[in-house]
Amino acid sequence: MTDSLPGSLAPARERTGAFDALAKTLPADSVVFADRKVLRLHPKARKALSKVRVVPLAAGEAIKSLGTLERVARSLHDVSRSATFVALGGGTIGDVVGVIAHLHKRGVRLIHVPTTLLAGVDSSIGGKGAVNVGTVKNALGVFHGAAETWLCPEFFETLTEAQRREGRLEAWKMVATLDGGTFRRWSLRTPSDAALLREARGLKEAVVRTDPFERKDVRVVLNFGHTFGHVLESLSGYTLPHGDAVGLGMLCALDVGVATGVTPRGVSEAVEVALPNRPRARTELAKLVSKTKLAKVATLLAADKKSSAKALRMVLLEDLGRWRVANVDASVWQRLWKGPWSGRA
Ligand SMILES: NC(=O)c1ccc[n+]([C@@H]2O[C@H](COP(=O)([O-])OP(=O)(O)OC[C@H]3O[C@@H](n4cnc5c(N)ncnc54)[C@H](O)[C@@H]3O)[C@@H](O)[C@H]2O)c1
Repeated sequence: MTDSLPGSLAPARERTGAFDALAKTLPADSVVFADRKVLRLHPKARKALSKVRVVPLAAGEAIKSLGTLERVARSLHDVSRSATFVALGGGTIGDVVGVIAHLHKRGVRLIHVPTTLLAGVDSSIGGKGAVNVGTVKNALGVFHGAAETWLCPEFFETLTEAQRREGRLEAWKMVATLDGGTFRRWSLRTPSDAALLREARGLKEAVVRTDPFERKDVRVVLNFGHTFGHVLESLSGYTLPHGDAVGLGMLCALDVGVATGVTPRGVSEAVEVALPNRPRARTELAKLVSKTKLAKVATLLAADKKSSAKALRMVLLEDLGRWRVANVDASVWQRLWKGPWSGRA
């Protein structure tokens, strides 16, 4: 078993199946933190949890807050450290429950049940949990690995096309940066969401296994598109969903790559054409960018863990499936921000 130490970053045991069958295996002292909407859309799942404690939460960036930590902690004084915590929901539920599981009585066993494609592809793997502080995304975070991840296909059936697109964007991020062969295959024939989930998970798991704590400049690749993605998410007041923000952030990373001579133009074009946020992405980017003062952007970038005040540390593509971290001078992104990203030539 991989779960002797709560929160250990050993790979989680992956179980696929119907949620009600898997829920029967939960210990009696489990606490299930569940997205309210998922409980409403999936009454069978709600029923399967009748014997354990359920804490319903309203998904969304607002739940990733210090306020949630305090509110939830106050309701858990009677829960022992041998309990199992379950995060049933998308990435926002997974992120905040990851922090709660890490802090509760100094760490309890965690199970992730991703219910969005984005969470299945990305956030349920690798043990990162975080909350936002003020306008700064993921300002406080922990590593707390799940003992198990349950993949229950019925949850993905109630996702809208827009929600699916977000998961697909994160999956394309993985193949564009990590696996040129799969990128080309996917470009020729769009994969089913089930195949995309399986292949993207495999890629992320391999990265996390090599560099679990993001110390070796390997795991950092998963931040492709996140430098500006986080800025755009924050500038929108979190009305721009995370996956879509990363999709726009990838366009920014491609442009920075071309402007600095790291990314060949052909590679940049191939990725932009493949991303499932066409054809509206550039217009949406311009809408957010043109309204914003550079000083505000600089403040957000400086608060981002991946950047220093003067130069941005960004993951850029050298080729399909090949990347590197580059220090990008502020003048580069500022020129792009005032020009093409704002919709000005
Ligand atoms: N920890 C990590 O490594 C990591 C990686 C990537 C992203 N993230 C984080 O993940 C978050 C985004 O995740 P998300 O997009 O899943 O957001 P989310 O949790 O807010 O879910 C998006 C929406 O989908 C709804 N939903 C969830 N499951 C559903 C279902 N089965 N059917 C219908 N609707 C459903 C939610 O109620 C919500 O309205 C961001 O906060 C991001 O920072 C974390």
